[in-house]
This record gives sequence, C-alpha cells and structure tokens, in this order.
Amino acid sequence: MTVSLIETLRLIVNPTKFLEDCAAKYGDCFTVRVLGINSPPVVFFSSPQAIAECFAVPAKELDFRKATHVFQPLFGDKSIVLQEGRSHNRHRQLLMLPFHGDRMTTYGEVICQITEEVTQWTAGTSVSMQQVMPDITLQIILQVVFGLTPGDRFQKLKELLSSLLEDVTTPLYSSLFFFPPLQKDLGSWSPWGQFLRRRKEIDQLIYAEIHERRLSNDTSRTDILSLLISARDDNGQQMTDVELRDQLVSLLLLGYETTAAVLAWAFYLIHWNESVREKLIEELDTLGDKPNPEAISQLPYLTAVCQEILRIHPIALIATPRMVKDKVEIAGEKYTTNTVLVPCIHLAHHCPKTYPEPKQFKPERFLNQKFSPYEYLPFGGGYRGCIGAAFSLYEMKLVLATILSRFQLTLLHRRPVRPVRRGITIVPSGGVRMVVTALRNQGSI
Ligand code: HEM
Repeated sequence: MTVSLIETLRLIVNPTKFLEDCAAKYGDCFTVRVLGINSPPVVFFSSPQAIAECFAVPAKELDFRKATHVFQPLFGDKSIVLQEGRSHNRHRQLLMLPFHGDRMTTYGEVICQITEEVTQWTAGTSVSMQQVMPDITLQIILQVVFGLTPGDRFQKLKELLSSLLEDVTTPLYSSLFFFPPLQKDLGSWSPWGQFLRRRKEIDQLIYAEIHERRLSNDTSRTDILSLLISARDDNGQQMTDVELRDQLVSLLLLGYETTAAVLAWAFYLIHWNESVREKLIEELDTLGDKPNPEAISQLPYLTAVCQEILRIHPIALIATPRMVKDKVEIAGEKYTTNTVLVPCIHLAHHCPKTYPEPKQFKPERFLNQKFSPYEYLPFGGGYRGCIGAAFSLYEMKLVLATILSRFQLTLLHRRPVRPVRRGITIVPSGGVRMVVTALRNQGSI
C-alpha cells in the first residue's frame, strides 16, 4: 500500500496504532510505501518464521547504512549503527566486552547506589517517573559504562545530553530527522541550528575527555572508553578520536533513554495491576534486609515482570531496517534491490497465536513458557541485535527493586495511558506521575 502524507505523519506520531491497523487489514507481512510510489517498498514481518529468516540473511546481501541514515546526524558516520561488514563486526566485538559476564555484574552496587541517591523522597512527594528515570539511567551510563565520575564535565554532559534528547524527542525535531532536506542551519533560533550547536558542545566535552584519557595512560581503568582507546585493529591501528566520539555518543543515546522508557512503563504497569505489585513486593521481601544485586537479578517473578513489560511495550517497535542489495527470499517471497526489510518487534509481541490476550499484562506467561528468539525479541536479534540487552535487563531489575523496596507508591491519576513516540522510543503518555504514600525498609539495598 502507498502511504499518504497524513498516514506518514501518523506513522511518526502514533506508530503502534498504525502498525496494528496495517496488520489487522493485511496480515503478518505487509508492504508500505512511505510518501509515493517512487520511495522504496518497506516490508514489515512479524511471523516467527519470517523474522528468523530475516535475521539469517548474510550481512553482505543487505545494506544497513541506507536504512539507518536517520541516525547519522546524531551518532556520526563511524557509529556502530551505521557500520557494515567487517567494520561492524570489529566495532561490535569491542563494544560488547564491557556488557557481558563478570564485568557487568560489578556494576550492580553502583546501579543501586545511584538509584538511592536520585530518589531521596519523603512521604507525600510527587514524582514524574518519565523525568526521574532518565536521570538515573543517564548517571548510570556515564558513571558505570564510561567511567565518568561526578564533576564539572559529568554535570555539563548530563545537562546537554538531557536537553538534546528532550529536543529531538518532540514531534517537530523527530520529523526533521526523517526528512534530510529540512536539515538546514538557519541560525541558533532555528530547530536544526539549535541541534547543531548543542551537538557541538557535547562533542567538545567528549573530545576533551578522550584527550585527557589518552594522555593519562591509566591502564587500571576498565570502562568502555578506556577499552576502546587501548584497542588495536588487525593492522595495529588505534581508533581515531572521531571513531571514539561516534561510538560513545551512540552508546550514550541508545543506552539511557531506552532503559528509562522501559522503567517508566514498568512503574505504570506494576501499579496499575495491584496484584502484580503485591506479588513483587512479597518476592522482594523474601530477600531480607540487605539483598545483594545478584540475588535480586535472579528473582523469578521480578524477571517475568520485566520480560512482560518489554513484551507488551517493546520501546523499540522494530529491529534495524535492512535494505536488499540484489535479491533475498523470505518466507517463500522474493524481494529485490532497494526493498527495505523490517522485523516488527511490536507486532510479533502482540500476535495472539503466540501470546493469547496480547493486550493483557500477564507476567505469568514467562513463568509457564519459554518463547523462541523470533517470538520474543525486545532487543532485536541476530548479528545486529542490541549489545546492551543483558545490561539493561540487569539495570532494570535493580532500579525497580531498589525503589519498590524503599517506597510505597501510587499512581497520581487512575486512568490508562497511551503509547506515544519520544524520539526513537515509545513512552507512556502523561509522564507516569506518582505519589510516595509511605516509606518502606529505608536503606535496605
Ligand atoms: C531496555 C533497553 C533497550 C532496548 C529495548 C534496546 C533495543 C534495541 C534494539 C531493538 C536494537 C536493534 C536490534 C536489531 O536490529 O536486531 C538495539 C540495537 C542496539 N542497542 Fe539497544 N536497547 C536497549 C538498551 C541498550 C543499551 C543499555 C545499550 C548500550 C549502552 C544499547 C546499545 C545498542 C547498540 C550499540 C545497538 C546497535 C547494535 C548493532 O548495530 O550491531 N542498547 N537495541
């Protein structure tokens, strides 16, 4: 089907509804042409078989760069997201290191500590989870993953990144990213001009940090920036400053707003469904006064709750779009040059055959059944799957456990929220405003 200008705006502003309407009309595989018949066909897949086949297509047969150009102004040309083939592989191997195994679990204490510091609430405090969560997750990513400790640069970077994301998440800004011809610097008052100036300020801070690290030659540091600075490729070449900058900005922006959005959904869903909250508190209380982060991360019901939150609201609605170079066959259909293939996470997660009553929030699904990586894929999959998946799940459990153990909260408004776009994520409408009704077990974690 060809999508009109109005429909294109709907796709940008209310994408979940747009996708659900298309699936209801055309089934689990449909083709959309955004803005006219000359634009490339975009094929959405949501059956497990088609998604599996899509992830299995060798990288050399697909062009990822053309389909992800929308990220270029933010992340930069050298970002892992815009890399392909061997270069993508090389960046991926390096970037995955700090997010796995023992290294990741050493971050547990710091995650809990940052969460406690940010949430110094008293009874009666009113909070917007959509504002508090990015504050927590941004500090975590700056401190834990990039080795930046609080100080002037940390504070400045935190403020600039928040304002940048705040700006780029408004519908006007998001639209500019989708339409490159509108990306014109018409001075500091114009939206694009303002974006460029803010990006420059962020870059200056990041380059200053890179230069200091290169000079200090401190080999005891284990954060990702230090790992990337000391890394050498097969020819013994180090990453350039621009390459380092692009990876750092990509990780910062992909890594904090995403987890913050899921956490905002988590607080809404857990408190909207009283029985879930009660079971969760009961399970958390079994850990006693001083649970360690590892024990928290192993809790079965907490794990199921987090999995179900990511199923019902997979804040990334689609995996990375990929453009066919020559020809590719998926689920018996042939696709030719320039067709864009999109594994649709949102529709896969709302398929009633896989998830009966898909709109119902039921963590028990994950206690009773295991789903394949093509039925359940909040972090995408295959060789382009999210490198922060294990880290953000771990972070999510610890932030939730820290707050739920210390505070009794209630939703300020007892009315359902809608999914709305905020930049690259889908967040609950209304900011999830809550009130602290009582203090629990202070200082327990
Ligand atoms: C709940 C939080 C998160 C969600 C739901 C999420 C989701 C996703 C999805 C769906 C993709 C595309 C995968 C694909 O195409 O198959 C992706 C890619 C990516 N994510 Fe995440 N993400 C989250 C957190 C993070 C964090 C914490 C980081 C790192 C700090 C991160 C870094 C990345 C990177 C670098 C890629 C690109 C990988 C590549 O192109 O090879 N994400 N993420």
